[in-house]
Amino acid sequence: MSVTFTLNGTTRAVDADSATPLLYVLRDLGLNGAKFGCGLGQCGACTVIVDQRAVFSCVLPLAAARGRRVRTVEGLGAPGKLGPLQAAFETEQAAQCGYCIAGMIMRAQALLEHNSRPTEAEVRAALSPNLCRCGTHMRILRAVRRAALAIGGGVRDVGEAAPAPTGAPR
Ligand code: FES
Ligand code: FES
Repeated sequence: MSVTFTLNGTTRAVDADSATPLLYVLRDLGLNGAKFGCGLGQCGACTVIVDQRAVFSCVLPLAAARGRRVRTVEGLGAPGKLGPLQAAFETEQAAQCGYCIAGMIMRAQALLEHNSRPTEAEVRAALSPNLCRCGTHMRILRAVRRAALAIGGGVRDVGEAAPAPTGAPR
């Protein structure tokens, strides 16, 4: 059965069993940023954005992507033209093995699209579904703070009023 959705801005029609995990479909299409970690929705290595929400693509059936807007880390930029989060992760050298990083970046992207100036606590809470077994968490947090500065004016102090949601994702 063919399932049509938008993938990084391009309409794609995929012929596959509609129960196939979206992660498998993405990787079969050559987008290898999202990784298979646990396959159980428990590590975040497979995180992509569907419409405006970060999701575990390992447990999302292809059918759930029908008519939706799917974005992967490849859609945020390219070598030589990195997006703000990709550039910040590179600057902060936030990866050790790198296995978790695409998922971390997509989780952070979804956060910054909804909340352009998160507090430190909000960043930590938003990233909490995603695990890094190498333990580069502090560098990852620094990278998200750096990207927040580039995108929306930085991380808020505790007690500072939250800005209105930015709403429209890129
Ligand atoms: S591979 Fe999807 S959450 Fe672990
Ligand atoms: S950098 Fe290795 S799992 Fe995060």
